Amino acid sequence: MPGTTLENHAKEIIQKTGFIVDSTLQFATTYDGSPRSLVYGGVYKGQPAVFKIYNKTGRQLVRQPENALEFASGNASSRMHVPELFAYEVESSESGWMIMERVPETAQMFTSPLNDRQRQEFLQAFFEYRSHMSLMSPWPIGKIDKRYIKDGGSISGAEFHALRITSWKKMAEAADAEYVQQGKDALLTEVLQEDIQTALGMIETAFANQPLYWCHGHFKPNEIHINSATGNFWITDFGHMALFPRGYEFAFMIWADVLMEFGGEHVNITAIAHHEDPSQQRIQAQAEHGIISYAAYRQRVIDWISAYNTEVTRFMDESEQVSVTPDVRQALVLEKGIQMAALLERILGSLYADTIARVEVPYEQKQERVALFQQLLHEIVNDTLFDL
Ligand SMILES: Nc1ncnc2c1ncn2[C@@H]1O[C@H](COP(=O)(O)OP(=O)(O)OP(=O)(O)O)[C@@H](O)[C@H]1O
Ligand SMILES: [Mg+2]
Repeated sequence: MPGTTLENHAKEIIQKTGFIVDSTLQFATTYDGSPRSLVYGGVYKGQPAVFKIYNKTGRQLVRQPENALEFASGNASSRMHVPELFAYEVESSESGWMIMERVPETAQMFTSPLNDRQRQEFLQAFFEYRSHMSLMSPWPIGKIDKRYIKDGGSISGAEFHALRITSWKKMAEAADAEYVQQGKDALLTEVLQEDIQTALGMIETAFANQPLYWCHGHFKPNEIHINSATGNFWITDFGHMALFPRGYEFAFMIWADVLMEFGGEHVNITAIAHHEDPSQQRIQAQAEHGIISYAAYRQRVIDWISAYNTEVTRFMDESEQVSVTPDVRQALVLEKGIQMAALLERILGSLYADTIARVEVPYEQKQERVALFQQLLHEIVNDTLFDL
């Protein structure tokens, strides 16, 4: 059963620290189905708390608790909050655990799919976060993944995307070759591969001279809790903080709320008792979500793009006095070419890594998802997304 080793290790730490578990908030796995992290709600020393144990976060040399502490100490916003760390241990560069303050019940977690008002609130939280957090990595160069460094600086956005897409492509091609060997149709058809080639060219061109920025790395609905009455919000999950190309976070939120929500990985398994097999539960939850019509799907993407552009303009106008630096403006106000290329990168990630390479997704479900991603990809490479 997946998760056993990590779960057992979690039990040891829970016993050692006296953390009292009352719910399972998340059980996440990597592409090959192995456990990546486990998150429990509960009580620690009489206070509402959350326990998180993680493994295989991969590329970072900087560890999750260190990022959480750094993020909190650099936070100059009065609206943005970071849960306080009560206890933690960095066990290796890839594993560790933390016990932190639980987000107060006055704040609600954003849950996909967001409606128009929630999307607006979410974007406002995003701009608040982005304008209060440095675009530069706070860590010395030795603590940054060597693959992202060149000549003492960071590589370009194009190089960054090429590195990641190449590795996802390999995983997907290996999985697809197995299907073909079993006598099934390839998921990566020739027609699809043609559009992928065009997409890769567009990504390379658009990101050729684009910088990398220091990012939370997972700014998506279920990492943000908001108190709508006050506008105060909480950010969780510092397991993905890293350098990412300009425009990445714009596309990432659309990836989370649309691409993954309708045919993807991240279905929330809140309140699933932890003796059950969470991966099985997740697949059921996905089936219940259903796969929406392409027309509705593309409309959601369009709505996100226009909401982003409306809110970024509003944010820039309103925050004139609060000194949004030219760098922040440059990071957030995105021209169409970057937006489209950033979306293409997320579609390729969804296709290759989150769908074709994922072991727990059944072949038939992969076919349906690929069909959805393929249509969107085709529209973006042909620039028809905004046609009626
Ligand atoms: N301090 C907290 N208070 C309340 N809820 C929390 C807190 N920390 C995490 N959560 C909830 O638990 C969920 C899972 O936590 P988190 O995102 O840190 O883990 P994860 O996604 O499994 O980890 P990773 O993506 O790093 O593998 C989040 O979506 C969040 O809603
Ligand atoms: Mg998370």
